[in-house]
Amino acid sequence: MRKKFKSVILLLSIVTNNLFANDANLILAKNKNCMTCHKIDKKYIGPPFNAISARYLNKEENVIYLMQKIKKGSQGSWGAIPMPAQTNITKEESKELAIWILKFSQKKLNNY
Ligand code: HEC
Repeated sequence: MRKKFKSVILLLSIVTNNLFANDANLILAKNKNCMTCHKIDKKYIGPPFNAISARYLNKEENVIYLMQKIKKGSQGSWGAIPMPAQTNITKEESKELAIWILKFSQKKLNNY
């Protein structure tokens, strides 16, 4: 009984840790209006974040590439609709979001 209780607590803390870690980035993405055009796993006005993550490997040059795309906007990579430049975002925020987006397909593999 005691053992079971302990493992439930352990499981809960793992789950909530993950939730909170991702929540901070999700809140940032919402505050910066990304989620008005993007969804995590479905196409909306823009491509889903997990499809972007599946296209680009999670390495530094792609973080830099996506940071620039986020700040300056994007055209022709995914279809006819362009993404406008995001002017309300700092370099650090664009980096945080690029890293967050690039991890989605990996998280899926890890049963995120
Ligand atoms: C007005 C709608 C809109 C908003 C707001 C928006 N996006 Fe986009 N986003 C798009 C569209 C449309 C595309 C596809 C553009 C293309 O085909 O090149 C895109 C593409 C992207 C890409 C992929 C670029 C590539 O070269 O593959 C990333 C990464 C991205 N958006 C992140 C973000 C982030 C982060 C935010 C918030 C700071 C954001 N977007 C806000 C519509 C939007």
